[in-house]
Amino acid sequence: MKNLSALSLKTHQGELYVLDQTLLPHQQQWLHCTTVTQMVTLIQRLQLRGAPAIGIGASLLLAYRATQGDSQAQLQKDAEILRAARPTAVNLMNNLDSMLEAIQHTDFVSATVACAEALFAEDVALCQLMAEHGAALVQPNEQLLTHCNTGGLATAGVGTALGVINLAHQQGKNIRLWVDETRPLLQGGRLTAWECQQLGIPYQLICDNMAAMLMARGQVDRIFVGSDRIAANGDFANKVGTYSLAVLAHYHQVPFYVVAPHTTVDLACADGSVIPIEQRNADEVRGVSGAFGQTLWAPEEAPVFNPAFDVTPANLVTGWVLDTGVYSQQDIAAGVLQQLFG
Ligand code: MRU
Repeated sequence: MKNLSALSLKTHQGELYVLDQTLLPHQQQWLHCTTVTQMVTLIQRLQLRGAPAIGIGASLLLAYRATQGDSQAQLQKDAEILRAARPTAVNLMNNLDSMLEAIQHTDFVSATVACAEALFAEDVALCQLMAEHGAALVQPNEQLLTHCNTGGLATAGVGTALGVINLAHQQGKNIRLWVDETRPLLQGGRLTAWECQQLGIPYQLICDNMAAMLMARGQVDRIFVGSDRIAANGDFANKVGTYSLAVLAHYHQVPFYVVAPHTTVDLACADGSVIPIEQRNADEVRGVSGAFGQTLWAPEEAPVFNPAFDVTPANLVTGWVLDTGVYSQQDIAAGVLQQLFG
């Protein structure tokens, strides 16, 4: 396997390493990942997270297992185990489908390695295309807002929504960014804030419930978010809290964009109601845990509702920024996703 390097994933001398995102921003620890069980745990604990990154990480692990002598039958079983690691992000399923085709080849070791490397390289290229399409929408001096983490940590490349924002920043547009902290797991506060520091993007961290006030004051000009799955009618799933932002943006007439590669589009889902939504552990809401220890502030047995994602209906979206271009509600209603990806 080639040496590959991204913010949260790397291969070196044929071995796979994952940056433990639960320890960021205060510790940077790379984990050596060698087994399917280990990869599933990394994905389920969100040590490896972000829709494109989990698909690519799972694919690299399968390629690694092939180089370690696993049979085609074993690799097929492994792919099915990895597929079930997290249910909402369709990139994982799409990438594993590509890997399963490679596993069928006579020379399946070379084919799986080539396939995983190609998925990595493709994501880098797709991120760059999205960044260019999205940054063209940003006007000088705008105040932008984003939710969760959609940057280099969540992809093999520059990211989706944060890639757009970073390119607008690099283009000298003098943007400022509001970063939603993103309860319950704080991907905004821990990861996006960290990436903004590294990239020099001027940002301010806010609690999720402060976005309404900023919009009412006219302090948000444009919103960019990522996605874990886009249905055929343009409805999309993303980190819980995205839907409420979209409702607020609609009320305050703030343009609201979803940014995702075509590997996030799932035409098998006619609309957002059939996108599977992961339910997570109650303790994530009863308190916080991570590198900073565990603190429970709610009663230990407090009943909890903890969906990891929510669905934003297409009628609240101003534009879909894909690697192939920017699409309006009219384009989506006219079936552009089916025409491009069907
Ligand atoms: O639960 P997470 O942290 O994996 O959720 C991530 C998101 O919701 C991102 O917005 C999405 O995966 C797109 S990332 C490029």
